[in-house]
Amino acid sequence: MKHIRKLLAVMMAAMLLAPAALAVAADEADPTQLRFNADGTFKIMLFADPQDDQDLEETTVAIMCEALDKYQPDLVIYLGDNAVADAEFQPDAIKAVTKPVVDRGIPYSIVFGNHDEEHNISKEDMLAIYQSLGNCLTYDAAPQITGCGNRNHPIYSSDGSKVLFNLWMIDSNMYNTDPGVGGYDYVHPDQIEWYKETAAALAEQNGGEVVPAMDFQHIIIPEIFDKLYMELPFSLGEASENRNGKHYTALPVFTRLTGYWLEKPCPPDVYDGQLDAWLEVGDVIAEFNGHDHVNSFMTNIRGVDVTNVPTVGCNSYFKDINRGAGLITLHADDVKNYDYEQIRMYDLALADGSDIPNVEGGKIKPYYGLVKFLDTIVIKLFFNVFAFFQKVLP
Ligand SMILES: [Fe+2]
Repeated sequence: MKHIRKLLAVMMAAMLLAPAALAVAADEADPTQLRFNADGTFKIMLFADPQDDQDLEETTVAIMCEALDKYQPDLVIYLGDNAVADAEFQPDAIKAVTKPVVDRGIPYSIVFGNHDEEHNISKEDMLAIYQSLGNCLTYDAAPQITGCGNRNHPIYSSDGSKVLFNLWMIDSNMYNTDPGVGGYDYVHPDQIEWYKETAAALAEQNGGEVVPAMDFQHIIIPEIFDKLYMELPFSLGEASENRNGKHYTALPVFTRLTGYWLEKPCPPDVYDGQLDAWLEVGDVIAEFNGHDHVNSFMTNIRGVDVTNVPTVGCNSYFKDINRGAGLITLHADDVKNYDYEQIRMYDLALADGSDIPNVEGGKIKPYYGLVKFLDTIVIKLFFNVFAFFQKVLP
């Protein structure tokens, strides 16, 4: 009888412990689940527009490696125009651009830009190449809708018990095929519908509360002109910016942004309703995009932070004044209050032991010192004086 009781007790204990053991096994079997660290932080590094082929510029590789080693992010996001080789070399180009991240075992995700698919290889085939590499979290959550790789990445609490934050990865597509409109493509209605449905499902799993989120996509939202520029009552021809049936000043109002505006933003030529959908759902607190390589401004449009991340690449066009990467730090105890830092190539190059001045295409250290001086003193002063006069003049 004693033995039977003992056996029953062991069986009961085994039955009670089994779900916990299964839960642990499930967590361990899911390395793709993103979690806040035990100290409550989660760091996301952003690489925009590397835009290079299989022979990636050595300076680009050095910037990526040194930024990753210095800041140790929990996730890396490639913001599009990631690899642009001819079809036969595109697998090698994708391997080259992700190698610094893959080698370090850091999870990463990508969105496509307008140039990735211009080389006779489909986004679906490129996605399969990314997925064949280690630590790639990218997948296509809704193959039936426009674009490729639309998805979201929930970030869980450090114990894995609750979703605290969410990352939307959206394909902003390529070029508008409507000959009457042209320009860059936009986020299509079926993508916006998918976003709303997925956000609603996420909120339902979260006890009815929307999960705060950020959006990552290659091309900036069209409302950027309404925010940064003054609208004119009529066209001034080429002296004004004419789009969406509206006319804007050629230069932005510099008091409406922080950071650098160094080129005209290139959003879609039509309003796609994406911002309205974010406001309707109420989850997106910030958007990050690449595409305009030399812009590194931040602004806020109707309550949503909008940040243009400048290029990390040294192959296409760039400016050394702001070239580099972006770094977001989320805090589990206050997820809406995030930190953003722009990592400058010149700061990495000036650090002891940096390879950037030594690799092919790199320049001597005093050059990077001069760029830093220009950035911190001269150009910032110029922008501030310009902004001051725009404020006081009618
Ligand atoms: Fe682009």
